[in-house]
This record gives sequence, structure tokens and C-alpha cells, in this order.
Amino acid sequence: MSDVLAEHIEYLTLPGRNALYRQAIEATLRPGERVADLGCGVGVLGLFCLEAGADKVWGIDSSDAVHLAREVMNRCGYGDRYECIAGSTFRTVLPEPVDLIICDHVGFFGFDYGIIPLMRDARQRFLKPGGAMIPQALDLMVAGVSSDECLAKADGWTRDCVPGQFRWLDRLSRNVRYSHQFSPVDLIAAPVALGHVDLAADEPDFFSFEAVLTATRAGRFDGLAGWFDCRLCDGVRMTNNPLVDESIRRSQAFLPAEESFPVEAGDAVGVTVRFRADDTLISWTIQPPGQAKRQQMSTFKSTVLTPADLVKQPARPLTLSHEGKARAFVLAQVDGQRSGDEIVDRVLAEWPDMFPSEQAVREFVKSVLAHHCAV
Ligand SMILES: C[S@@+](CC[C@H](N)C(=O)[O-])C[C@H]1O[C@@H](n2cnc3c(N)ncnc32)[C@H](O)[C@@H]1O
Repeated sequence: MSDVLAEHIEYLTLPGRNALYRQAIEATLRPGERVADLGCGVGVLGLFCLEAGADKVWGIDSSDAVHLAREVMNRCGYGDRYECIAGSTFRTVLPEPVDLIICDHVGFFGFDYGIIPLMRDARQRFLKPGGAMIPQALDLMVAGVSSDECLAKADGWTRDCVPGQFRWLDRLSRNVRYSHQFSPVDLIAAPVALGHVDLAADEPDFFSFEAVLTATRAGRFDGLAGWFDCRLCDGVRMTNNPLVDESIRRSQAFLPAEESFPVEAGDAVGVTVRFRADDTLISWTIQPPGQAKRQQMSTFKSTVLTPADLVKQPARPLTLSHEGKARAFVLAQVDGQRSGDEIVDRVLAEWPDMFPSEQAVREFVKSVLAHHCAV
């Protein structure tokens, strides 16, 4: 729970964010309307909707924060108008359509926290025809970066203190999307508009945006800064633009160049950013000035492939792993009669060496029951 508190205090204390959401809710919601708060966290956006006259809010969150939301609403006297659903929005079925879907899934670069599939799914399954959405759209901005601090993030694996056997990981670490709080001095090319994502439209599954950056001074070009200018509703915008006072101070995205390169003031640097709506992969290219080779980076290149990735190959015959068999065995003991303690005892009696120690078996059984049993 302490991680949840540490995470959510960050959202609640971003300068100006709560006021912007309140403003958008007041401009959008009519008294008596019904709302789905997607990824409700501790319930802050749903609370603003109830205060603005919503009749009913469903707060959905896949983390423990949802249990805090329930407690908050009970304490505020909204317990009968706020219903918490613990789980993923993608697996949630609401009893009736809503007038408004709301979330703050706006990532460092706007699109990079899964807002596109989240809003699309909720719009198609939860929202009344003609219903409203907050946010409505994202404008993506990109700028050129020259920053020792950013370079140190992308270059971490080459540091002297890292044993030599790990230095090859440097090639991968140039293909990672980092978060960073940029200051104006970190930017070597002024921001330009990269692209627009309309969350209310049936957008394509694949986005490909291009831009040309112009260096504003001579120096070393280390990569791209990306941020959002988000339309919460008509007339209310929220941004993490590091160059403006009204920024909510959410970090921006840093996309490194494969190799830093020198630029002169006035040089043009070509940029593409591509991503799919439904997954977390981002690829980007940077064309340095002159005849230099175009650099191609992708978070795919830094993805660690695991046995789970092989399982995703559809034609491969599958067998259960040891843990899979253990999980199936535990769940088969749940018969609507036995208590948790009785199931633990039964598993220990029937399969005592499921894990190397009795303690490990007990912990495993309890965690399986906690995840899969209704109370
Ligand atoms: C950025 S926080 C926002 C919390 C809160 N709405 C706010 O504005 O402060 C996103 C929350 O969404 C939850 N979340 C992410 N994806 C989700 C999904 N598909 N279904 C349910 N909850 C999700 C996370 O657990 C997290 O609590």
C-alpha cells in the first residue's frame, strides 16, 4: 500500500492538474449524469465529478489504490453513489452506459501510458452515443536535446563502475524511452508540433509522425524531448511543456539518439516517431544534418525476450510450467466448502514438495487464493 500512496501523491500534487480537471468536469458534466472513472487511483477525478453533481460514478482500477478510493468516498458521504471495481477496465462490464468517461492516462509523451486503447475500449463499450470524454485529444510536441544528464541516462552501461562484461548493454539502452524533467537549457532545437491524436475518433492502429527540427545553437545533439498538449475539453488544455509556466510539471519523454552528433545553429534534423495504438513499442529515427547515416531506434530493440514471448507464438504446442501446474492444483481445491487454511493444509498433505520449503508452499497457496477467490 505504501507504493500506492507514494505513486498517487505525485498525481494529486502536480501543479494545476486538479484545477484543470475540475474546470473540464464543470464545463462538461450535467447534474444527474453517470461517469466511468478509468484507472481511478484513489478516486480523485470521480470525487470531482460527484462534487459537480454526477449521480453515479464507477471507479475502476487494477491496483490496490481502488480500495482507498472506496474508503475516501465512504468518508465523504458518497459511498452510495460511487462504486469501486477492482480490476482492468478491459475486463470490466458496466451495468449501464455512462454519459462521461474520464481518466488521466496521459503519459510523459501523451500517448505512452496506454491512453489510446484505454479510451477506445471504454468509448466503444461504456459510453452512451453522444457521450463525453475527458481528455478528448493529444497534440504531441518534439524538440532536440543536448544534456549531460540525459546522456548519462542513456549511457549508464558504459560508466567505469559497471563491470566490463555488461558494457554491451549500452547498445540496448539507446533504445529506451526515459522520463526526464527538461529545462530550457537542455534544448538545442526548438519544439515543433509532431502530431495529433483524436481520442474520440476511430484512429488508425498505427501512428507515424514526421517533423524537422532546427538547431538553435551549435552543440552536441543527444536525442529528442517529447511532451503533450492535451485537450481535456473545449477551452481547457493541460500540458507538461517544460518551457511554459502553466506546465503541470509531469516529466517529459527523452528518446536518445543512437550516437550523439554535432550540430551548428540553423542545421535541420529530420525526425520520425512511430507507435501502435495497442502496445507500448515506440520507434523513432533521427536524420543528422549533411550526409550522415539516419539513426533508427526502437524500444523493441531493448525488449528482453522471455519464455512468455515464445508462448505467444500461436502454432506452438504448449505444456504447463511447474508454477502453472501448481496454480491449477491449488485452484482445483477450491470447492465452495473448504476455508483458506483447509486448502493450505490439503496442498501441504498432497503435494508437500511443490516448492522447496513449507513456507514457500504456504505463501504460494495464499497468493493464488487471494488473486482468484471471491469473498
Ligand atoms: C496515472 S494514474 C491516475 C490515477 C487517478 N485517476 C488520478 O487522476 O490521479 C493511473 C491509474 O490507472 C490504473 N490503471 C492503469 N491501467 C488500467 C486499466 N487498464 N484498468 C484499470 N486501471 C488501470 C493504475 O493502477 C493507476 O492507479
